[in-house]
Amino acid sequence: MSESPTFDHGKVTVIYVLGGPGAGKGTQCANLVKDFGFCHLSALPAGDLLRAEQNREGSQFGSLIQTCIKEGTIVPMEVTIKLLDNAMQAAMAENRLGDGWQDGRGRFLIDGFPRKMDQAVKFDETVCLSSVVLYFSTTEEVLLERLLVRGKTSGREDDNVESIKKRFRTYKLDTMPVIEYYTSQGKVAEVDSTGTVEEVHALAAQVVRDALTGKYSQSPN
Ligand code: C5P
Ligand code: MG
Repeated sequence: MSESPTFDHGKVTVIYVLGGPGAGKGTQCANLVKDFGFCHLSALPAGDLLRAEQNREGSQFGSLIQTCIKEGTIVPMEVTIKLLDNAMQAAMAENRLGDGWQDGRGRFLIDGFPRKMDQAVKFDETVCLSSVVLYFSTTEEVLLERLLVRGKTSGREDDNVESIKKRFRTYKLDTMPVIEYYTSQGKVAEVDSTGTVEEVHALAAQVVRDALTGKYSQSPN
């Protein structure tokens, strides 16, 4: 039996944001928030939400999450989806201003999610059907270089060569199938993220404009 989703995708727009570690997901999402008034679950991205939960006193998932992040593996979807669902409900209850938030509507960029097929299917089914996957692609060389630069100041325990290699492996194994799955549904917009922040932003903004005007929305059948 299928559960009905928490949010109606006719009112609530969900854009998944994927790309290898270091692809620029967080940076680009922050800029898209300014243009389009999204709630970025990445001002708390999925990774940041998990890190916040990890640090919450009394969290039952703390050490599990910590191990996954260090090992570059995927946190079980029940945990991640619950955190995202809660964060979305909180954002909807805030009565945000702006066009995208009137009359029960909302718009969300979910950064670094879904990283694995089970999360993708479950979120679409139980939280909100997504409209498009904004996919930032570039080479592993570019990703590695960016992550090592970021690692000098990020304080993230996964921005080191050993964790990075594991994250690349997890990405290929678990996340590429998600991108292939949505590609087969015509729901992936690939943006080359090798360029400057501004160049990538121009490409990403066009994808968002298209998504908000219904280019990727599926017919009911
Ligand atoms: O997206 P970000 O690179 O910040 O994610 C960091 C780590 O958080 C990932 O390597 C993974 O261990 C965990 N994560 C996850 N499931 C997600 C997003 C992140 O397990 N959907
Ligand atoms: Mg990030």
